[in-house]
Amino acid sequence: MSERPAEAVLWDFLRGATMTRALGVAVDLGIPERLAAGPQSVHDLARETAVDADALHRLLRALASDGVFAEEEPGVFRNSTTSETLRAEGWHDFAHLFGDLFFRAVADLDRAVHSGRATFADSFGSDFWSWLAAHADERASFDRAMAGGKDRTADRLAELDWHDDEVVVDVGGGSGALLVELLRRRPTLRGIVFDLPETERDESMLGDRIQFEAGSFFERVPAGDAYVLSAILHDWDDENAVAILRGIRSTAPSHARLFVTESVIPLDNEPNGAKWLDLLMLVLASGRERTEAEWTALLELGGFRAERIEDGLIEARCL
Ligand SMILES: C[S@@+](CC[C@H](N)C(=O)[O-])C[C@H]1O[C@@H](n2cnc3c(N)ncnc32)[C@H](O)[C@@H]1O
Repeated sequence: MSERPAEAVLWDFLRGATMTRALGVAVDLGIPERLAAGPQSVHDLARETAVDADALHRLLRALASDGVFAEEEPGVFRNSTTSETLRAEGWHDFAHLFGDLFFRAVADLDRAVHSGRATFADSFGSDFWSWLAAHADERASFDRAMAGGKDRTADRLAELDWHDDEVVVDVGGGSGALLVELLRRRPTLRGIVFDLPETERDESMLGDRIQFEAGSFFERVPAGDAYVLSAILHDWDDENAVAILRGIRSTAPSHARLFVTESVIPLDNEPNGAKWLDLLMLVLASGRERTEAEWTALLELGGFRAERIEDGLIEARCL
């Protein structure tokens, strides 16, 4: 396999931030949706979105050069498979968040690397979760982004052994999307979604086997037979993550199982999205992605024994 020149590789990395921002601008202007019915001229798109036609052309041309949109004929753009995907559940909101809020937060990575701590509160005036609570539109965007793409995790959870009538508590379960998918696959289970009151959710989607309970997992956690922590512990440093685990352990019956659906950072140099997400977790909330050894130690401090650790699904039992 021929290797790309180092300069070409570096150039792609150097322009990466501009690409992230350009994607955010394009989704915020609703370009993927506007092209859903077919190709449109940049002049029409610029008129509809009230932006400068020449600048919009340059934005779309740059994105099309990397396969996001396609310039069908000079000045006329259509969706590509990639930009069509930006219309799918979750992706529009991730592009918005990465291109705006997360982009601005990551600009402080230098300070986070110096201090080893989150920088979000210094720049935005409050911690990440309080800031979202005060910005309902961004909170809703975050919840929609997180709700997308739960099928794979729901499949993995559904493949496990379950007893009839077990109650599954999704701690920090957001809109409930994961629990809805799990219970669709396992109709004898019941569930509780536990999260902060400000989460944006459609309770009619939860059906009669899932309840939403509002609260903070630093204060209480509902009782259940199985607990799911999906993309929760990576939001927190070890001290807070242990506090969350101990809170669960204090209400969990001794037979309870814990499923942590998170990345396990491998000890290699292969491309790995979680190693990048780790830096976002650092600046947003002093959170971190963890290796197998770190997961084992963290769970033990929190009162659980890791029984199986795989990327995307960690199974644990009460100590
Ligand atoms: C990264 S999201 C994950 C959401 C969901 N589990 C998923 O996998 O899509 C983290 C969730 O933790 C919730 N959260 C943050 N602080 C919390 C607290 N103190 N108590 C309960 N939930 C909290 C947030 O509201 C958010 O829904």
